[in-house]
Amino acid sequence: MTWDACGDADRAEIPLLGVLIIMAFDKSSLPDQDADLDDVLQPGTCLSNNQYRIESYLRAGGFGITYLARNSFNRDVVVKECFVPSFCTRSHTTVRPRSEASKAQMQKAVRAFLNEAQTLSQLQHPNIVRIRHSFQENDTAYMALEYIRGHDLLDMIEDKVTLTPHQIVLLTQKLVSAVAHVHDRNLLHCDISPDNICIRADGEPVLIDFGSARKMMDGIGERNSGFSMVKDGYSPPELYEANATVTPRSDIYALGASLFHAITGHAPVDCQSRLAAVSEGRPDPVPSLAATFTGYPRGFLAAIDKALSVRPADRHASAQDWQRAFAEPPVETAPRNVALLRRVVVKPQAAVTPAPKPAPAPALLRADGTPRVQFRYPPAQARVQTA
Ligand SMILES: Nc1ncnc2c1ncn2[C@@H]1O[C@H](COP(=O)(O)OP(=O)(O)OP(=O)(O)O)[C@@H](O)[C@H]1O
Ligand SMILES: [Mg+2]
Repeated sequence: MTWDACGDADRAEIPLLGVLIIMAFDKSSLPDQDADLDDVLQPGTCLSNNQYRIESYLRAGGFGITYLARNSFNRDVVVKECFVPSFCTRSHTTVRPRSEASKAQMQKAVRAFLNEAQTLSQLQHPNIVRIRHSFQENDTAYMALEYIRGHDLLDMIEDKVTLTPHQIVLLTQKLVSAVAHVHDRNLLHCDISPDNICIRADGEPVLIDFGSARKMMDGIGERNSGFSMVKDGYSPPELYEANATVTPRSDIYALGASLFHAITGHAPVDCQSRLAAVSEGRPDPVPSLAATFTGYPRGFLAAIDKALSVRPADRHASAQDWQRAFAEPPVETAPRNVALLRRVVVKPQAAVTPAPKPAPAPALLRADGTPRVQFRYPPAQARVQTA
């Protein structure tokens, strides 16, 4: 389905789907490889009757390839292409199934990709990426998304950019609100992690990549069909189980894990190791943030600890419940637009003291206007687990 390239007005007319309908992939043909560089569209490739021109490749995952592109108004946009390397290869620009069997799988993947576009079109929130357009071409499907000028949170953490407690609190408020918006529509994200959180140059966090939702089978509270996409450190224990029950509490765990990473500088230990430690009577290898750090509003870190509970029942019942932990104002009142991208000395293990004085934000863009850090290949730690 397509709608106006830059207008948001039409989005309101798209009916709500209710529960997200996701395609089932046959377990025997689960994607098990990432696209390689030969598979990517070359810079200069035009799509949708010259509406988009590929500028550069951003990243290839197990289910899609992401590009930076220019639209016909010469504005930057992100174009995502449905490309499942286990099922397809490329011949010039056309995407070809690898075999007769993978033809059907690729068709399912394309339908699921378009469902993801439909899902995204329902979400209108300042902290959720906006979709502009989806279309079919080259025997596959594409979506054009707003380009978030900045970095993803994983790049920032890996670049040793430290966030102050005040910045973490603002980030958390906005992301919890974004997740509440998703859940309010009976949808799940299913892949919240620092690489799926972009931070705009003005510090505003934006949740991206609803692709995992497309790979999960059912909506809230339902059982999926035997596979799930897990990311060690961020995925909750229930996602590792065959026929996992995935609920809003699963997204709450993943968001807690992403915030834990931003606060401590490292991802939490994966939950299977946590479960093993606890069952062997060893201490939980994920330390309590509330017991380790200071400088945050009362209850704030305890709320992240709660989100990171191994047992779903011990987590916040909903993102709204988590939002109630924000009743108290942040410890300091720095201007909202102070960039999150200040570089300060990193002391990930030390107790956090009150925020340092603002330092100048590092340049986000090169002199020619292109983003400073965007290219990473292949995606970190993502893997598909079969039942
Ligand atoms: N709208 C956007 N603006 C700026 N950068 C983006 C945007 N969308 C994606 N990116 C960058 O590209 C990376 C990959 O995008 P994305 O997470 O959507 O794909 P993926 O993880 O490869 O997806 P898939 O699960 O479909 O294989 C992100 O981590 C981010 O750095
Ligand atoms: Mg991603």
